[in-house]
Amino acid sequence: MLHRAPRTRRERADETAESDGVDVAATSLLCCQTCLETAEGARPPHRAPAQVGLVFAPRAVNLAAMARTDSRIVVETERGGDEAAIAALTAEAFRNHPYSHGQESAVIEALRSAGALSVSLVARRAGEIVGHVAASPVQVGAAAAGWYGLGPLSVLPARQRRGIGSLLMRAVLEELQRRGARGCVLVGPPEYYIRFGFRTDPSVTVAHVPPEYCLLLRLAPNSDTGEAVFHAAFSL
Ligand SMILES: CC(C)(COP(=O)(O)OP(=O)(O)OC[C@H]1O[C@@H](n2cnc3c(N)ncnc32)[C@H](O)[C@@H]1OP(=O)(O)O)[C@@H](O)C(=O)NCCC(=O)NCCS
Repeated sequence: MLHRAPRTRRERADETAESDGVDVAATSLLCCQTCLETAEGARPPHRAPAQVGLVFAPRAVNLAAMARTDSRIVVETERGGDEAAIAALTAEAFRNHPYSHGQESAVIEALRSAGALSVSLVARRAGEIVGHVAASPVQVGAAAAGWYGLGPLSVLPARQRRGIGSLLMRAVLEELQRRGARGCVLVGPPEYYIRFGFRTDPSVTVAHVPPEYCLLLRLAPNSDTGEAVFHAAFSL
């Protein structure tokens, strides 16, 4: 699977700004389940309305963000030998994250070792890995297999806010849908993930996670409910 973004005027402007030394603001988003442990009790400024039964529609993703993505970015499945670069990128992306405990790279490695890194996509630019997203199996209530936990999601700080995160999100959701996934769960800030179709859903919970951070996207029509249990790697 390859995803290439179109080359745009905005992209060329971004490159000019970059070469001029213009810095890019770091993000201040919550991460996945592991990061949330230190953020329990915190509340986002905005609460997404509870909705049940949403199904992912590829056209609904943030095409505006994608349009400004560097056309030299290619999103593809990780290759053998990418492990160290993915770990370094993830550590760098979460270095100044307010809720990070610095274990995100270890979580990815533990998933990989356990054979539970179901999807691992990298964004490459001129051979350099500048973004990464992971997905791993999640048990939702008594539902059959087919649910996935999304995260960690990382973009190199110097490359953030150029649409790479959106490109990775679109690619991972398409890949999960291609695999016939029932849905996807993540723990994170609704203000970021709502653009990809994720919503709070009171019928699916994550232990010790405030409901407003537990986000759900049904990738196929279903009414699965219950507690979503992430892989043990997230308990590192
Ligand atoms: C979160 C992250 C993956 C987003 O990647 P990205 O490539 O910067 O995202 P995009 O360029 O696709 O941004 C799309 C939109 O997300 C929003 N966004 C991105 N970073 C944001 C931030 N720090 N705060 C608020 N909104 C943000 C913006 O609305 C942006 O579009 P806009 O500027 O046109 O409004 C990246 O910032 C990152 O690696 N952060 C550190 C790790 C992290 O927080 N991971 C997510 C939790 S697992």
